[in-house]
Amino acid sequence: MKAIVTGITGQDGSHLADLLLSKGYEVVGITRRTSTDNTGRIKHILDHDNFQLESGDVTDVSSIIRILKKHSDPMQTEFYNLGAQSHVAESFKQPGATWDITGKGTLNILQSIVDLDMKHIRFYQASSSEMFGASCDTDTNPNQKIGKMERYQDENTKFLPQSPYAIAKCAAHYMTRLFREGYGLHASAGILFNHEGPRRGDAFVTRKITKWIGEYHKFKRRGVAYSSVLHKISLTEDPDYIYRVEHNKILEFPKLRLGNLEAFRDWGYAGDYVEGMWMMLQQKDPDDYVICTGETHTIRDFLDVAFKHIEIEDWTQYVVVDPEFYRPAEVDYLRGRNTKAKEKLGWTPKHSFKDLVKLMVDHDTKLTKE
Ligand code: NAP
Ligand code: GDD
Repeated sequence: MKAIVTGITGQDGSHLADLLLSKGYEVVGITRRTSTDNTGRIKHILDHDNFQLESGDVTDVSSIIRILKKHSDPMQTEFYNLGAQSHVAESFKQPGATWDITGKGTLNILQSIVDLDMKHIRFYQASSSEMFGASCDTDTNPNQKIGKMERYQDENTKFLPQSPYAIAKCAAHYMTRLFREGYGLHASAGILFNHEGPRRGDAFVTRKITKWIGEYHKFKRRGVAYSSVLHKISLTEDPDYIYRVEHNKILEFPKLRLGNLEAFRDWGYAGDYVEGMWMMLQQKDPDDYVICTGETHTIRDFLDVAFKHIEIEDWTQYVVVDPEFYRPAEVDYLRGRNTKAKEKLGWTPKHSFKDLVKLMVDHDTKLTKE
């Protein structure tokens, strides 16, 4: 069994490669040329006998065609398209590049598969809950007898994208459906809600918080707590910093700067979600599936659990709300309903919200232990 994976150096690519190798797949990861090493997340598998990297870029059709010709196995090949400019805020700053990579990149792969007459390939598209944007459905919770009304998104919820990233993802999603229906490709899209973990990029809010906690933990381990010397340094106090004293020196540490704390996200663990991707490609018929936990929390909730885990009850003195991190348009509420994935794929998330936050905090506090 062979799998070709774009986005191999990303969070999901690395988890998916681990999963596929554990199942005996031969994995070909596509990486673009970068001036610095970006293989940190896949270091542990670089020497694996069944793993190899190929240089390519989803915006460069000729590189995709070359890789498909070289590696497609007519017996069974799966193609996982995870490559993307995946940062929503960045997509407002680089809308053109986001479109070329996240949107047109998908078309480049699908069209290459058809033009090369490689319809045996099973294709996975990394679609996103961001596509729902400002849209949700409302009804009573089917899991509760006396259910209260709740907002949710599933496979039938309309898309109302709120960013250049989400619009590019919608185009790629519709393209995947078109190639499935128009050319008979085994092409499936996983509409994945936010998923995180210790391999998450540090510009996403969860990892930004837990990495900060890791650094802060290191900072506070030695010396006298700020409150006990407050009177001595009050003249120099800057509200953007936390202070402590070491060997009669006052040391400062920048507070955690975040944007909108009110948005709701349905956060799960990335390791669980790549199993859903694989399950979709094992189905006889291709289809689209929502993968999520069904629970939703605000960024404030995430901060509550993360700071309590390092025994800080009130995080408000450590966090600064900085409009620099606001977005021109926001997705206020995401909460998925995973009934289809549960019933048809047999997929369920294994990690709770609290498990996830603690896993990430534990990882980042250990990473920064001296
Ligand atoms: P990520 O950590 O940002 O990884 C993105 C990957 O795409 C990286 O390997 C990156 O390579 C690669 N890439 C960027 N531009 C490329 C190009 N022009 N050609 C080929 N590869 C390129 O993202 P992730 O969290 O693993 O997410 C994986 C996929 O799922 C993405 O498509 C994302 O949009 C989608 N998604 C993610 C979530 C989530 O919560 N994580 C939810 C829904 C959907 P470099 O290392 O060279 O930058
Ligand atoms: N990144 C970031 N940085 N987000 C912040 C910050 C901050 O300092 N402060 C508040 N937020 C808020 C954002 O405004 C957003 O409402 C929420 O935290 C989550 O932001 P991200 O972690 O950047 O994720 P996202 O939801 O925008 O996008 C992620 O999930 C999508 C699936 O819904 C990405 O992984 C996308 O690629 C993915 O498709």
